[in-house]
Amino acid sequence: MYYIMTGVSRISALVGTRSVLAVGLGLSMACSVYAQDVTVSEKSFGCIRDGTKIRNTYIKNADPEKLKEAVRIFQNSVPDREYPVGTFLQLLPGEVMVKHPRQKFPDTNGWEFFALDVSTQGTKIRTRGDKTTNFQGVPCMSCHQPAAKFDFVCEKGHGCAPVPLDDQKIAELQAADPRCPKK
Ligand code: HEC
Repeated sequence: MYYIMTGVSRISALVGTRSVLAVGLGLSMACSVYAQDVTVSEKSFGCIRDGTKIRNTYIKNADPEKLKEAVRIFQNSVPDREYPVGTFLQLLPGEVMVKHPRQKFPDTNGWEFFALDVSTQGTKIRTRGDKTTNFQGVPCMSCHQPAAKFDFVCEKGHGCAPVPLDDQKIAELQAADPRCPKK
């Protein structure tokens, strides 16, 4: 303790107590940004239809308040607004976007793209990160980039190249998610 105190007071003498406090505060703020990050494993995924459906997309967030906010942003296509950390978006059972703090993936505002293998046994992660490619080898972000004003959420009319599936086919694939309980 003695050494720490003298160390601190020596630094304080050099740079002034206020900036030492500022550095300390900065560090603890950086920690808290990371503390609220979500950990995503294969167990984080399940039946796509457990989410809240808006138009073609299913939305999840473990925190009910954050889910409400994510649904609000999506429903109203709110521009220049980031989705809350922990938000999961899904169009197809095998593709997911998960929101982390933006520092984790600065190029995508924190979105992590997942390509999954899904079966009745559950979920296997094929690829993850901000450079993930789809089943045709096309980077997710190459299509989602034009929707930057909408936090990279494409929907229809946000400027993304369309997926090669009509709404009917998308609905069929969602209905056929093998992880969902059999009726
Ligand atoms: C060919 C371009 C293209 C590629 C490649 C692509 N997407 Fe998309 N994505 C779209 C479009 C267009 C939509 C909106 C479809 C709709 O709502 O009808 C969309 C929708 C989504 C959605 C629902 C939220 C939203 O943005 O509307 C998620 C989640 C998603 N894609 C994830 C991925 C992931 C993960 C990958 C890579 C594994 C990927 N996408 C690759 C074009 C693409």
